[in-house]
Amino acid sequence: MRTRELGALKVPAIGYGAMVLSPGMYGEVDEAQAERALRAALDAGAVHVDTSDAYGPGGHNERLVGRVIKERRDEVVLATKFGLAIPEGEAGRSFPVGYAYGELRVNAEPRLVRGYAERSLRNLGADVIDLYYAHYPDPDVPIEETVGAMAELVRDGLVRHVGLSNVTAAQLRAAHAVHPVAAVQNEWSMWRPVDADLLAAARELGVGIVAWSPLGSGFLTGAVQELGKGDFRHNAPRFQAGNLAANNDRYAPIRALAARLGITPAQLALAWLLHQDEHVVAIPGSRTPAHIEENTAAADLTLHPDTLARVDEALSAFEVSGGTLL
Ligand SMILES: NC(=O)c1ccc[n+]([C@@H]2O[C@H](COP(=O)([O-])OP(=O)(O)OC[C@H]3O[C@@H](n4cnc5c(N)ncnc54)[C@H](OP(=O)(O)O)[C@@H]3O)[C@@H](O)[C@H]2O)c1
Repeated sequence: MRTRELGALKVPAIGYGAMVLSPGMYGEVDEAQAERALRAALDAGAVHVDTSDAYGPGGHNERLVGRVIKERRDEVVLATKFGLAIPEGEAGRSFPVGYAYGELRVNAEPRLVRGYAERSLRNLGADVIDLYYAHYPDPDVPIEETVGAMAELVRDGLVRHVGLSNVTAAQLRAAHAVHPVAAVQNEWSMWRPVDADLLAAARELGVGIVAWSPLGSGFLTGAVQELGKGDFRHNAPRFQAGNLAANNDRYAPIRALAARLGITPAQLALAWLLHQDEHVVAIPGSRTPAHIEENTAAADLTLHPDTLARVDEALSAFEVSGGTLL
């Protein structure tokens, strides 16, 4: 698969987002199915594996990832995050996101950062985290202080590269002045534009961008007609019945364009993203080996400039029902 650079870290253009493998997000998941899916991703070359200490209860996702990659650790670029799975007895600050959970609580105080990393290493059964992110900036802690503590993890060999997730351009600049940031992980997809200032700052500083939910939490595949039990998207305005139907109708021109190109809507969504910048990579999630193969194949697609123009034209006419929040 084509590779790309996130700062000094080389990764495949399409990685794998493991969040989908833990319960509490996309409904229940069978453990054996989850392990099969992750193996399929590694076999397909999606060896940049993205997890977090907050996915699933008690480090479920990290432990699952750790178990599966154990035999193939050297092939894998292992990325995880901290700040949302707050240790008992510690306070968290509310972070103003609207999607799905009501509120997120964050604690990225520097005095907790080493403990977070050590807990993740134990969950993962690993000696080192290749790319370690602050999952969300802590509203009460200057980002420079959080990153200062992360820099000590790099110095002491627990972490190879520093990442930040869900940050602004100003936060990226402030953090990068303390320690080089390899990657910023923010939501970016056909129905969720990236912040233009953040993209400009990342380009200027040589920081890579990891696009989360690059398939719009499944919407952009065209395959989401109704939601099963325990699916977090029930709480997301864009997926509520009337909105979902309207969004699916309005998205028809993009699906038709994919069909004309002989690729799937998921492949068009991923390939389009990779064409936005040479330092963007995508980490789609899937439990279905056939989808994983389809997604990874999108890394090698080259879209003609006319195709990109047609996509942008269709996107500019695509009015999303359900507001700006997921
Ligand atoms: N930093 C953050 O704050 C943050 C937040 C959210 C997510 N993330 C990261 O981003 C990763 C990806 O996000 P995500 O999983 O929520 O959203 P996503 O990748 O946009 O979409 C995942 C959904 O798409 C479906 N899908 C995938 N490929 C498909 C295909 N080819 N055809 C049809 N359906 C397909 C999956 O179902 P199937 O299982 O049926 O394929 C799943 O329901 C996460 O794993 C996580 O690592 C980070």
